[in-house]
Amino acid sequence: MMLTPTGWEGRALIVSDIPHPETWFDEEELAVIRGFARTKRRSEWMLSRIAEKELRRSGVTGDYVSFSHSGKYGAGAIDTQAVGIDIEVSREISENAAHLFLTDEEIESMKKCTIALRMLHFWSAKEALWKQHGGSIPTLRRVPLILESKNETGLRFQGVETVAISDLIAAITLPTS
Ligand SMILES: CC(C)(COP(=O)(O)OP(=O)(O)OC[C@H]1O[C@@H](n2cnc3c(N)ncnc32)[C@H](O)[C@@H]1OP(=O)(O)O)[C@@H](O)C(=O)NCCC(=O)NCCS
Repeated sequence: MMLTPTGWEGRALIVSDIPHPETWFDEEELAVIRGFARTKRRSEWMLSRIAEKELRRSGVTGDYVSFSHSGKYGAGAIDTQAVGIDIEVSREISENAAHLFLTDEEIESMKKCTIALRMLHFWSAKEALWKQHGGSIPTLRRVPLILESKNETGLRFQGVETVAISDLIAAITLPTS
């Protein structure tokens, strides 16, 4: 199954339930896959790389790639500039943990949102931004998140947007130019 949130066409793809995923890979890649001890890790790697391959097959170009995995899903994003993607299987997480990765201002902004699983939207957005910065920001809490607008399915922050799709919350960074 391949999922593309509205507006993400030509940028990113979410993949799951691929029959015989290993058939997508050449010998060199299969060696990498076999190098992972855990079946789950093999599956994560394959699904996210299938997302990249499928994007490239459909003509998407760019030297920057970002990957994410959650549950049975893998995702990939490609751009000509730094990009970050994150997916999170929808699940209730206690907002008591918000202070671990959100500033007080961000918690206030989150509490004004009525969207389901609002904390997961904020979390996923931060993860995507963190990846776009190549891990150069030491903690998620220090990734600045400024909410710009909301709709029924997602949130738009400065530089990153989220969407609820299927049983996932997904986030992708926005082009900077
Ligand atoms: C790396 C991190 C984003 C992984 O998050 P996760 O939810 O477990 O995993 P995801 O599936 O969403 O993302 C994993 C992908 O992130 C990417 N990634 C890892 N390190 C990265 C980095 N420094 N920059 C950009 N992307 C990175 C990889 O492509 C990885 O997939 P791959 O191993 O198949 O290549 C995680 O360390 C994190 O949450 N960092 C946030 C910052 C933080 O709090 N750091 C302190 C850690 S103690």
